[in-house]
This record gives sequence, structure tokens and C-alpha cells, in this order.
Amino acid sequence: MDRYKSGAEELLERIEGNDIIIGILGLGYVGLPLAVTFARAGVQVIGFEKNAEKAQMVNRGQNYIADVDDSELSECVEIGRLGATTDFSRLAEVDAAIVCVPSPLDKFRKPDISFIEAAGRDIARYIRRGPGVFISLESTTYPTTTEETMLPILEEQGLVLDRDFWLCFSPERVDPGNKSWKTKNTPKVVGALGAEAQRIAMAIYGRAVENLHAVSSPRVAEMVKILENTYRLVNISLVNELALLAGKMGIDFWEVIEAAKTKPYGFQPFYPGPGVGGHCIPLDPFYLEHIARNYDFDLTMIETAGRINTIMPHRMVVKIIFSLNKQEKSIKGSRILFLGVAYKADIGDERESPALEIINEVYRKGGLVDYHDPYLPTIATAEGIELESVELNEEVLAGYDCVVITTNHRSFDGRWIAEHAKLVVDLRNVVPAGINDHVYRL
Ligand SMILES: NC(=O)c1ccc[n+]([C@@H]2O[C@H](COP(=O)([O-])OP(=O)(O)OC[C@H]3O[C@@H](n4cnc5c(N)ncnc54)[C@H](O)[C@@H]3O)[C@@H](O)[C@H]2O)c1
Repeated sequence: MDRYKSGAEELLERIEGNDIIIGILGLGYVGLPLAVTFARAGVQVIGFEKNAEKAQMVNRGQNYIADVDDSELSECVEIGRLGATTDFSRLAEVDAAIVCVPSPLDKFRKPDISFIEAAGRDIARYIRRGPGVFISLESTTYPTTTEETMLPILEEQGLVLDRDFWLCFSPERVDPGNKSWKTKNTPKVVGALGAEAQRIAMAIYGRAVENLHAVSSPRVAEMVKILENTYRLVNISLVNELALLAGKMGIDFWEVIEAAKTKPYGFQPFYPGPGVGGHCIPLDPFYLEHIARNYDFDLTMIETAGRINTIMPHRMVVKIIFSLNKQEKSIKGSRILFLGVAYKADIGDERESPALEIINEVYRKGGLVDYHDPYLPTIATAEGIELESVELNEEVLAGYDCVVITTNHRSFDGRWIAEHAKLVVDLRNVVPAGINDHVYRL
């Protein structure tokens, strides 16, 4: 048996015998659930985190991610199955390193893969020289990143593919707030570089994730993730544009969707809203757009969908102005309460949330803004407006000139809100149909 094969076989045997340590770089919305999932499957996990406060919290068994169960995390820490560190030299202890660091857009809306590169450099610098280590990238990025960015970073340090390391891309599909689909039971796409790497990848992920789907290369896996999120961006932008037209034509677009849903095939419902938010859907398609330019290729569909999405918050402000106007009020000087700032229901994540942009614009136009969000006690907009969530009761609702429903948190009772507010702008279909006199819908 040659050296490369024996290395892979040795690692596979150790995986089989559950005698491995997995290092997870980045303990955020993706990395922490993954770390707990592996630890609960009996695997030894070390979390590598740049943010010392997060690492300390994990080591105290304190949870800070809503999708992770408090007791599951503390239990894993207590039995010594999971620990976190800011000391990246401890990467020398791991048999596998999984990268879950951020992949944002920069201020020019271009991909910022600097976190991925930094993680790659740390791995290259510290992993053991000797028996090979499995490396997997989970951060969302444009196709070719694993092979054209990660691989050279590792090779620059003298590491040899298929001898010192095996490389893979496996996109995370975390859906924050989803009670049914978690890291463990959501099918996971795995695309490694070469047959040995794929066997190792399947064996490692197979320890913790129930259902794996192998694809032929990292770039296919990278494209899968972008397809999934682009599909959502394009469809949400489509229904948003149609909802705006339907509103002008006096057609209840929500009723249209309910009716279209009765078609048993060929139609999947998407729902209008004030724009898409979160870490993925508003950003990921632009990763693809960026790499497409290298191939002299215009992704006009993504560009158009992005434009519709970008303008949605402004259009919602116009709707608020229009609704106040009907009550002979101007936006300037009106007291406006926003219900929900999180980008989607029942979570406390306001990243890229359209609500923040709407609040900003209303404030700039002279509106006196407040908000209530049961999941976000304080917020700060990009323009530096800092607010604390106000209490929500009948008197509070009645005290505002306009109440705007920006997130459909389950705790928001549309009928009760409409009963007590003077004017409601419902951007999420929370108020039941039929209550119309002082309610304006998207
Ligand atoms: N949040 C989601 O719903 C979701 C879903 C699927 C995929 N993703 C993708 O997963 C990746 C991570 O997203 P997230 O939401 O978990 O981000 P996050 O910001 O919640 O967590 C990332 C963590 O990585 C840490 N970090 C930054 N640089 C580091 C480094 N060099 N080494 C170690 N730790 C580092 C940060 O301190 C942070 O705690 C992104 O690429 C994102 O697009 C996110």
C-alpha cells in the first residue's frame, strides 16, 4: 500500500472507531449547531473562535444561538465532548477542520472572502505534519473558491493534497428558527476533491448527519448552495413585484397565492414582504454574479431580482406615506411604531433586515420612530439610530399614528393589532382578510 492510500485508510479506520477530533472554525449560527451536532453524536469537538467572548461562553456551557438547545450545549461541555478556544495552534490536535466563518459582501457589494482566506492560513500554519487531515469549507461562497483559493493557500505552506490533507466543500443549510429541520436531519451535499477525499468526507459527516448527498466536485457543491439561494431571491423578488402591481389593481395578492397553491404540481408558493434579509439570500447570488464576470457572463436574472429587492424598502416607505396621507397626516412628525425588526419570523436576527432600512428612511423623512420586537431588545440602524424595543399593549398601539407590521412573528395577533391601532400598514399578511377600513396591505 502506498503512503497516500495508507493515510486515507488510517483516517477512515479512526473515523469508524470514533477516534477523531474535529475542529470547527467559527462558532456562529452555522458552526455552533454543527459543533453540538457532532458532539452529541459522540465525536470530540474543539471550536476555534476569534471572538474570545463567544469562546468563553461556550466553555461555560452558555448558549448564544437560538437554534441550539441550551441543555444540549451545556451537557456536551460538561462531559468534555465540546470545548472552544482562541488558540489556533491547537489546530495541531485535530483530524478534521471544518470552516464556518462569515462570507459577507464588502461596501461595494463585492464578495469578501477574507475570513475564509484567514481560516485557510490558520489551518495551513497549524495542522499537524504527519497523518493527513480532512478539511472542509462550509461558508457560502462562489464556485471555484475551494479549488482556486483554499487549495493554493494550503499548498503554499508545503502541504500536499491527498497526502497531508483532503479537501471538500459542503454547504450548510441552516434555516434559523426552523423547528423541524436541523443540522442533523437536513440532507447535506458533499463535494470533495477526489475519490479518497469523498470517502473521508462521507464518513466524517455521516457520523453526525443522517442523510448525505455526494456530488462530483467542490465546485458543484458550491454551485448547489448558490442555486438554492438564488432560486429564493428570484422567486421572492417576482412575487414582490407582482404584489405591488396587484395592489395598484385592487387585487388581494395573498388570495391569489392561496388559490395558485391549489395546483398540485409545478407551483411552489413564495410570499411577498418588505424585502429579503439575513446572511444568505440577499448576499449569496452576488457571489455568483462576481465570478460570472470573470467568465464575461451577465447574470441578468440575478441583477434584476437584486434591483427589485433593493428598492422594496423604499417602496414600503411610499406605502406608509400613502396610508398616512389617507388620514390627512404627513410622515414628518407622525409617530410610527414598527412591529418586528428581525428579517424573518420568530428569530432574533436583524442582519440585512429590510425593516432597518425602512426605519432609517422614515426617520430621515421626519417620522418619530419606535419599534417592538420580542426577540431584539435593542437595535442600531446603519445610519446610527439606536432604539430600545417598546412594550406592546393596547394603549401603546393606540398612541401611534401608524403601526407598521414588518415581521410576522407568531406572537403578533393581527386582529388585536388592527383593533387598537389607528392605522396599520401590514407588510406580512398578519391582519386577517376583511379588516380593511384602516388597514393597508402590501
Ligand atoms: N446563518 C445562516 O442562516 C447560514 C445558513 C447557511 C450558510 N451560512 C453561511 O455560513 C457561514 C457562516 O455564517 P454564520 O451565520 O454562522 O456567521 P456568524 O457571523 O454567525 O458566525 C461566524 C463566526 O466566525 C467567527 N470567525 C470569524 N473569522 C474567523 C476565523 N478566521 N476563524 C475562526 N472563527 C472566525 C466569528 O467571530 C463568528 O463567531 C457564512 O458563509 C454564511 O453565508 C449561513
